[in-house]
Amino acid sequence: MKHSKIIHVSDCHIIPNGGLLFESNPTSRLRSCIADINTNHSDADLCIFSGDIAHNGDIESYRVFSECVSQLKIPFRVMVGNHDNRENLISVVNAAKADEFGFVQSSVDLPIGRILLLDTIKPGAHEGFFCEARRKWLEDQLKEAGELPVFICLHHPPFTLEVPHIDRYTMDAADAKAMSDIFRRATNIEYMFFGHVHRNVSGIWNNLHFHAVRGTNHQSWLDFKSSNSICSLEPPSYAILLISSESTIVHFHDFLDIGPKFVYLPDEPEGEQIKRLESVSA
Ligand SMILES: [Fe+2]
Ligand SMILES: [Fe+2]
Repeated sequence: MKHSKIIHVSDCHIIPNGGLLFESNPTSRLRSCIADINTNHSDADLCIFSGDIAHNGDIESYRVFSECVSQLKIPFRVMVGNHDNRENLISVVNAAKADEFGFVQSSVDLPIGRILLLDTIKPGAHEGFFCEARRKWLEDQLKEAGELPVFICLHHPPFTLEVPHIDRYTMDAADAKAMSDIFRRATNIEYMFFGHVHRNVSGIWNNLHFHAVRGTNHQSWLDFKSSNSICSLEPPSYAILLISSESTIVHFHDFLDIGPKFVYLPDEPEGEQIKRLESVSA
């Protein structure tokens, strides 16, 4: 049976010169993330960074990001998000591949199928967009994939999550409709995953299973009432996708969790069942 393992990292929001963002250091957190991936998933086929690489889209932040990801032991691709500057990203980060129109869109073939990485940004806007040229690229790619299972990764989801302060920066309604029409017509799309929302969330939209993952620096607090963006320092996560012809399993790993870990041996006598594992900590 064919297998593929994909690591999904998102929303690094790098700041130049080791600066803090929301009282947290995005560069040191990204370094910890990469070290954890290298330790635990050096067998993965691909790592995808699904956009918002730099908080302000500046060249220096992309240089910092490039230096960090140069330590990764597995192949990787980098996508664009609304906090990024497309030209700056492409000029510094080789793993941000552009299509023929200059959008940061590309495909990667893995044993289990084809990964399509989509560009959903418009300069100057935090909402998502997906114009005619990008729709054509997507339709061509889906057609070319034929019977191959296709996995779509994008920055903005083409639907809302019922959390007002997250949904205010969702995708433009007309573009989201056009994208969903393309998805509906395709018969080879298996799964979709995205960034932007800074939360671990999964579900089914139009019969398509999806997940999103937290950022590596800060998160969106789960407040269903506020219309102001509320960021939090809940632990960062990355996702591990274990894909075969039978299943797509997604794990979320809080790689900086410092809570104690225990070996639990329920078959041992009482008093000897729980042993603190000193070696496991972030
Ligand atoms: Fe973000
Ligand atoms: Fe974003």
